Amino acid sequence: MSERKQQVSRRQFLNYTLTGVGGFMAAGMLAPMVRMAVDPVLQPKGEGEFIQVADVSEITTEPVRVNYKIEQVDAWYTSEVPKSAWVYKNENGDIVALSPICKHLGCVVNWEGGEGHENRFYCPCHDGLYEKNGANVPGTPPLAPLDQFKTKIKDGKLYLGEAVPNTEV
Ligand code: FES
Repeated sequence: MSERKQQVSRRQFLNYTLTGVGGFMAAGMLAPMVRMAVDPVLQPKGEGEFIQVADVSEITTEPVRVNYKIEQVDAWYTSEVPKSAWVYKNENGDIVALSPICKHLGCVVNWEGGEGHENRFYCPCHDGLYEKNGANVPGTPPLAPLDQFKTKIKDGKLYLGEAVPNTEV
């Protein structure tokens, strides 16, 4: 191979240099944009978060509705979302926190709502009924028990986590 063939021409050198510098600059500009575009996907979802909702000493065997708010991050938009739960102590003294969202079509259930629904949760939309432990009453529209919130007690306060399907009834 001759020495002449191995030399890089001035034109080739300029091409390589400009391509390299141009590529480097393009990567420098695109990297922050790509990072910004996928950033929400990379953020932890916060599903393990617990929110303080009540004093344990105030919870009785009678279900009461507690209202609270969670911070919801939707891509770059952060908002406060109102939530609620039916909370009571069961016969063992354990705290139960049930979702008020009916498993039929998503209406809100009430404790002992209306006549003839004593000691049950009642959904007014289509007369859905649930037992106190959240189990759906057969023969009424809901086909699954009310979801149950994960609970945590710390320093006499009740904290609620995410609502999960109720597998205990
Ligand atoms: S939405 Fe509750 S019974 Fe239909």
